[in-house]
Amino acid sequence: MHMTGNTILITGGGSGIGRGLAEAFHRLGNTVIISGRRRERLQAVIDANPGIIAVELDVTDPAAIQTAAAKLIAEYPALNVLINNAGIMLLDDAAGPVDEETLVSTIATNLLGPIRVTGALIDHIKRQPNPVIAHVTSILGFVPLAMTAVYSSTKAALHSYTLSQRHLLRPAGVKVIEIAPPWVRTELLNSTEEERAIPLDEFIDGAIEQLATDADEILVGPAPQMRANPGPGEHAWVDQFNDMMASGAKVG
Ligand SMILES: NC(=O)c1ccc[n+]([C@@H]2O[C@H](COP(=O)([O-])OP(=O)(O)OC[C@H]3O[C@@H](n4cnc5c(N)ncnc54)[C@H](OP(=O)(O)O)[C@@H]3O)[C@@H](O)[C@H]2O)c1
Repeated sequence: MHMTGNTILITGGGSGIGRGLAEAFHRLGNTVIISGRRRERLQAVIDANPGIIAVELDVTDPAAIQTAAAKLIAEYPALNVLINNAGIMLLDDAAGPVDEETLVSTIATNLLGPIRVTGALIDHIKRQPNPVIAHVTSILGFVPLAMTAVYSSTKAALHSYTLSQRHLLRPAGVKVIEIAPPWVRTELLNSTEEERAIPLDEFIDGAIEQLATDADEILVGPAPQMRANPGPGEHAWVDQFNDMMASGAKVG
């Protein structure tokens, strides 16, 4: 994708990967708008990076998405890039009774959120120069982590949706990118100090380097190995991966 001259909306830009991408694109001279629910996290980013713009938006609220999209289009008509990054990751138990709250909130945030935010902005983005839609999925969409089965499922579904969108939007010249991070040191699942996860800076540097190419899929660090999830052989791969995670061994 073009790395300069864009107007970019990054959902979940108040922390972690979203904040890292926002700061990197801001340094490259793009107009960057971040969104999220926690006002104080958004404020901290704009205080540290004068010029970044913040809007409060809960991506599980369809009406709020419509309102925010109309406002953004009116105030930033050059908006040409959307990075659907907001997400939550909760432990669940696919072998036991369903926790409704986990099920519904995870699907609403990780799957319905990106679909709805894209739907609200796509007709506008389509008409801009160098239009891009990027979805932050996960390597767990290719090889599920059994202890976060719902989360892994939302990322697999978002991967599938990305493929459909790429197919349909290619004739219109919209680049549809999937960013599938490996385990990265962020607040997600309390992983800021996690030795087995890669440092956030390392992930952002790798992602920015790949985003500057024509790549449709951004696969940093150990991600390519998980992306190459071996078709009908995947059952053995899933067992091996989950045994390794349960044992505390390093991934990849
Ligand atoms: N870290 C990893 O190992 C890893 C690996 C693979 C994929 N990912 C994906 O990377 C993305 C970013 O995660 P992260 O690791 O950077 O964790 P993070 O620091 O917790 O970031 C998640 C962001 O999403 C926002 N968010 C959550 N629910 C939201 C909602 N309903 N509406 C709007 N914003 C919401 C949060 O802000 P508010 O709470 O303020 O709304 C937060 O800023 C997620 O999609 C995650 O699944 C992360």
